[in-house]
Amino acid sequence: MNSHIDKPLLSLVCNSIDKTALGIELSQKLQLPLLEDANPKFIESSEFVLLLDGKGLALQQTGRKAPGEIRVDFISGSVDHRRKQGGGKGQMIAKACGLKAGALPKILDMTAGLGKDAFVLASLGCEMLLNERSPIVHALLSDGLARAADSVRWDDVELAEILARMTLLGNSDSRQLCLTREQLPEGKVDVVYLDPMFPGRDKSADVKKEMRAFHAIVGADLDAADLLPQALRLAEYRVVVKRPRKAPFLNELAPNFQLLGKSSRYDIYTLKKMS
Ligand SMILES: C[S@@+](CC[C@H](N)C(=O)[O-])C[C@H]1O[C@@H](n2cnc3c(N)ncnc32)[C@H](O)[C@@H]1O
Repeated sequence: MNSHIDKPLLSLVCNSIDKTALGIELSQKLQLPLLEDANPKFIESSEFVLLLDGKGLALQQTGRKAPGEIRVDFISGSVDHRRKQGGGKGQMIAKACGLKAGALPKILDMTAGLGKDAFVLASLGCEMLLNERSPIVHALLSDGLARAADSVRWDDVELAEILARMTLLGNSDSRQLCLTREQLPEGKVDVVYLDPMFPGRDKSADVKKEMRAFHAIVGADLDAADLLPQALRLAEYRVVVKRPRKAPFLNELAPNFQLLGKSSRYDIYTLKKMS
């Protein structure tokens, strides 16, 4: 990808007159060149664009053969389907985080990404704090949460409650995360959840083409091992690490137990028994 060294990797395209002011603000904040009213198919100056249009913010590869966009969507699509049809507390992620009737831990997701895992946990009743260091991914997630909150239907109280349980923190590196007393009056969360990128993950056959743009922007999280000591400091009961099924342990530290899925697994580091 870095064959295009003289081209910026990413530009911001604003295709909505109503959002011009927001486009200018975002391009300054994210330090991206701003293009107005441009079709990503025909943009040659950058390989990816952050697209601001009437539907919100999306990440998109440029060029005629580019795969579809990535947009955070909590209202429809696969996330919504999983909320309505998913396996409740029987899901592996729920078991890994120690959810059971009457036990709904407060969870810090230190690698929030596009917020899908956090949404699943929030939909099962957990209070979620989300942190994400990539300013681009943070902007996508923030936009998705705001759009969901704006468009939640009056009769979908459940969705409104789920969104109210999700708090997106400022854009910072979780390895140095400091939580204020207001964000965390108890000083610690019950559970810390980690799902860093894994080198080579974008090459696996089950990664959708659209996600390649996400992987190109975020990189391989080669410093992921450093997240674990910080996670262990901030968690009261356990740290849960999602890994590709055959990946080595994060920070070479063996967990207390594991839950194995088809392509991924959860490594669980227990600190205290959850009541
Ligand atoms: C695989 S994605 C997480 C996907 C997420 N679980 C979901 O369901 O959408 C990994 C994310 O962790 C973020 N990340 C990695 N290291 C981080 C760190 N030290 N601090 C904050 N975010 C980090 C990356 O920027 C990336 O967005």
